[in-house]
Amino acid sequence: MNKMLRATEVAHVLSSTFLHEGQKVIDATCGNGNDTLFLAERVGATGKVYAFDVQEQALAETRKLLSERQQLDRVELIRDSHENFARYVDSAVDAIIYNLGYLPGGQKEITTNTASTLYSLQEGMKILADGGFISIVAYPGHPQGEQEANEIEKLLRGLPAPPWYVLTYKRLNSLKPSPYLIFIKKQD
Ligand SMILES: C[S@@+](CC[C@H](N)C(=O)[O-])C[C@H]1O[C@@H](n2cnc3c(N)ncnc32)[C@H](O)[C@@H]1O
Repeated sequence: MNKMLRATEVAHVLSSTFLHEGQKVIDATCGNGNDTLFLAERVGATGKVYAFDVQEQALAETRKLLSERQQLDRVELIRDSHENFARYVDSAVDAIIYNLGYLPGGQKEITTNTASTLYSLQEGMKILADGGFISIVAYPGHPQGEQEANEIEKLLRGLPAPPWYVLTYKRLNSLKPSPYLIFIKKQD
């Protein structure tokens, strides 16, 4: 059987087409640092990545990974909720990446939740530059994740186009819902 790309992999493939050296971007849920590393490598030494997480363990993992890969110089690690972008980011950003849920290998109770994710998304849309994008990997395989994904979709379906274009990469023929990608592009 052909191995299909996972939602997290498609998020990187699609994001790569819009990321450039020197951009200012946000990782809204840095977790173990894989997305932060991806962003840091693409924006380069002249770019900037703001990496948010509510858990010290996540920031420590991200700091370790970025340091090992010599990418920490362009990253600001912030222990706060992604509801509070405006406290740390003083001008428009070119991209925001969310990977929802809990820290792999960490406490499953500390997870993103519907209210704070919706608030954060709305704050993110306010500071997104024209031409920028927001990538979200959602996990509807458990009740809380399903509610979170449904409410995100409800919010995004109501956005006017232009300037907002919202797409998904989602498996339809599986018995239980799989992780999927929601990608929001703001027109130039
Ligand atoms: C699936 S993990 C992220 C994986 C990560 N992007 C990576 O590449 O390894 C989700 C993360 O979201 C964090 N999180 C939960 N609520 C948050 C919030 N309100 N603001 C920021 N991060 C949050 C969790 O602590 C967890 O580390």
